Amino acid sequence: LHVAVLMGGWSNERQVSLTSGAGIAAALRRIGHKVTEIDMDRDVALRLREIAPDVVFNALHGTPGEDGTVQGMLDLMGLRYTHSGLTASAIAIDKQLTKAILAPRGIRMPGGHVVKSASLHDGDPLPRPYVLKPVNEGSSVGVAIVTDASNYGNPIAHSAEGPWQQFDELLAEPFIAGKELTVAVLDGEALAVTELMPTQGFYDYDAKYTDGLTVHQCPAELPADVTQAAMKMAVDAHIALGCCGATRSDFRYDPAQGLAGLYLLEVNTQPGMTPLSLVPEQAKYRGIDYDALVARIVASALA
Ligand code: DAL
Ligand code: MG
Repeated sequence: LHVAVLMGGWSNERQVSLTSGAGIAAALRRIGHKVTEIDMDRDVALRLREIAPDVVFNALHGTPGEDGTVQGMLDLMGLRYTHSGLTASAIAIDKQLTKAILAPRGIRMPGGHVVKSASLHDGDPLPRPYVLKPVNEGSSVGVAIVTDASNYGNPIAHSAEGPWQQFDELLAEPFIAGKELTVAVLDGEALAVTELMPTQGFYDYDAKYTDGLTVHQCPAELPADVTQAAMKMAVDAHIALGCCGATRSDFRYDPAQGLAGLYLLEVNTQPGMTPLSLVPEQAKYRGIDYDALVARIVASALA
């Protein structure tokens, strides 16, 4: 096959996408496919029309690329592509919209609401501790956990570094104490549960992409009912949003609350494929090496 790997672009996760894309392109070549690597720019449609690939491997992360825009363009062009389509992507990139779809289906997610960043000048939007995050970013870009000790929300602190400097709106959610978990779903089947244990702070951008800063426990040592519930919630969410190929659902779990302490945070429709990424790690645990995973995702796009 001739596979075009779409990567890079101009999202805040450009570097992550370039790393995912390089790994995917190398795997596709090892498998024996012809590969064209495309660092996405505004002329991407012209470039794709020129090379006319059999399938597009979407290795983009963030906005644009994970949000339905590129998927809609590929639909119009009549090109087949990996991962989720326009509608699932557009919903899943928006953490608040995702809640609106999944909460009525009984999938537990944290409460909270969207606030104008400027309103943070007036004080805390929720009782502390709470989380501030952009509605439609990935890799923890712009995320802050506001604790009793932090001075976010204190008018004196407004010139300090904070997510409101970059984003007009932020989602404020109660902070769920306990563990950070993740579940990969491949073709509708959950692979495993991983617990992420950052050596310091939370699982932020640096902890995600710097080797040695986070311990990945796969499979996570959890009560069997919690493991089962997390895997079921990830599959239910994948299906409810109409996702395709690979997704990864992120969770918080507060053991003090038992099963009721398991909360889905979001569904990632373009999960990372870097050397430190979690979908490849769970696939490997299930006997699917990186190249086989890439082959599965391509096969799913062509099915
Ligand atoms: N947003 C990053 C790439 C992930 O979900 O893995
Ligand atoms: Mg994400």
